[in-house]
Amino acid sequence: MTGEHGNQAVRAARQMVRTDQLLGVGFVPLPARRTAATDAAAGKQRLLDDLRARHDRECPHCTTATAHTQTVFGEGNPDARLVFVGEAPGAEEDRTGRPFVGRAGELLNKMIVAMGLEREEIYIANVLKSRPPNNATPTPAEVMKCAPYLAEQLKIIAPDVIVALGAPAAKFLLDTTEGISALRGSWHACRLGELEIPVMPTFHPAYLLRNYTPEARGKVWSDLQAVMKRLNESA
Ligand code: URA
Repeated sequence: MTGEHGNQAVRAARQMVRTDQLLGVGFVPLPARRTAATDAAAGKQRLLDDLRARHDRECPHCTTATAHTQTVFGEGNPDARLVFVGEAPGAEEDRTGRPFVGRAGELLNKMIVAMGLEREEIYIANVLKSRPPNNATPTPAEVMKCAPYLAEQLKIIAPDVIVALGAPAAKFLLDTTEGISALRGSWHACRLGELEIPVMPTFHPAYLLRNYTPEARGKVWSDLQAVMKRLNESA
């Protein structure tokens, strides 16, 4: 076996081992992926850079909030097929300016690897772009002010699938008051102007860290498997 097929086989074998090690669950097929080094990606990155500058200049929430030291815009492949949306930066994210780099981020990284993906090929963002005081859950007023920038970010990236990590992300993306337990495990749609993007809500990694039971892990893994299946089907 040579070239791309050989690489895929090696990746598939590595993924099988990692998936078993990390989650104690079976193998899922590798999805086709968009590569970052395309003109589309470069164009999207420019739009994201402009949006970031505008957000930092004018976001009615982040320009008046006082508990953070810097905003955390989001990061990853601007042309990603898969975007994870979390809640808000925590202490480590506020310190580094990067999303999901604390304990919850370590678990998210494991989930990404178990899906046969690399962090660089997906995109990660949050509902709020600045750290709430005492890591409080974002209030509806805060979300109303800051999350429109997330909506613009998602319109630019236009991924095939979004995973909503936890209730604040699911509620904003799906425009619902329904709780995460009721929403997770089935497909929903996020409407962004002309775009309609499939959303799989699942438990937030921080929730999983607090409730590291086989049942909770199994539910998250089954949600992520549905995401992998959808990505493979639409590849
Ligand atoms: N939790 C989140 O929701 N987002 C982060 O970036 C980090 C932790």
